[in-house]
Amino acid sequence: MAKKVILSGMRPTGRMHVGHLAGVLTNWVRLQDEYECYYEIADWHALTDDPKKAKEVEANVMGMVRDWLAVGIDPRKAVIFRQSYVPEHAELHLLFSMLVSVPRLLRNPTFKEKLAELRKRKGYTKMVLKVDRLSVEDELEQILRFIREEDERKALRMLQSVLNRVRDEVLERITTEVALDEAAIPAEVSYGLLGYPVLQAADILLYKGEVVPVGADQLPHLELTREIARDFNRTYAPIFPIPEPLLTETPKILGTDGRKMSKSYGNAIFLSDPPEVIERKVRSSITDPMKVRRNDPGRPEVCPIFHMHKVFNAEEAPQIEEDCRAGKLGCVACKGRLARVLIERLTPIRERAESFTDEEILDVIREGSARAKEVAERTMGEVREAVFGREGIGSHTDS
Ligand code: TRP
Repeated sequence: MAKKVILSGMRPTGRMHVGHLAGVLTNWVRLQDEYECYYEIADWHALTDDPKKAKEVEANVMGMVRDWLAVGIDPRKAVIFRQSYVPEHAELHLLFSMLVSVPRLLRNPTFKEKLAELRKRKGYTKMVLKVDRLSVEDELEQILRFIREEDERKALRMLQSVLNRVRDEVLERITTEVALDEAAIPAEVSYGLLGYPVLQAADILLYKGEVVPVGADQLPHLELTREIARDFNRTYAPIFPIPEPLLTETPKILGTDGRKMSKSYGNAIFLSDPPEVIERKVRSSITDPMKVRRNDPGRPEVCPIFHMHKVFNAEEAPQIEEDCRAGKLGCVACKGRLARVLIERLTPIRERAESFTDEEILDVIREGSARAKEVAERTMGEVREAVFGREGIGSHTDS
């Protein structure tokens, strides 16, 4: 039986860190034997929040693919390709864009988060907060005074007027917030950002992806892909599968400051970090802030060091958890053990990564993209025929 098609991708953010290894890459490596895998360097997606990022993309693509190869993504098994080398993505994205309503895209949770972030940075939230503060304190004081003076009638009248005001202000606040919600889209929000998940749908369906390994945060995007596939199939011709998510249980890896591990937070341990750097980062990482002294009992569930033990030191983790909770294991010793395990695990990856020349990496990307393009062209042939009929496809391929 033919292998099922897997499509997954990452935006080129540069060198990979242990969060990528635990969350995505280990899984990608495992899937390459069982499925026909396409792993995409989503370089157009990388521009959606800042078009000027194009300058960093080149180096980031190289660093990312270097690490993909180092952890065992095998170009003989999986197709490693670059989105922008397969312009069919843009064409399919365009046709899909007609099938998706703008309100549907505005409801996308990832977009809403981005919007909220931007608004906060630009001070939009302050406006909401200002309206939020109800100026009733003086009146309340006055009411209390009337009550103390046992002047019930005046207290009641005052209370009534306060309630009326509160009602009006709340109503006004709600209207203002609704207005902000709908109208206040900061100018930084591009058409491309709004269309991010439509491009992602094109990524997946161009290869007729049937299975998409993703983290839970990407589920809304996959849901939109499924809607687009169904809509296209109904509107034109049934050529797309309805892709299924493959929700792999991705272990949580926290950065050394306790937030989500991310290059942009400066809290990441990279696969390319040499031993001394790993040591230093682990040593300076936060742990459970309630565990101040060596013998204080700790809470492993809030400790980034313990989360890494769980993933990279699975055999010892249960004992470490027990000893930490019992106050029998101090953070310094615990970190020492983690540093040792990480160094052991990452050293061969780093050495392998360093062994590839730029030319070798470029070859992998070029060859993978050529293979991807063949599939993409075939699908686009079917798509053009479905949308425009035979004539449309004839005139296109004659060129
Ligand atoms: N949106 C994904 C992310 O943020 C990257 C991505 C782009 C992707 N195209 C894809 C993931 C297709 C899965 C399938 O990581």
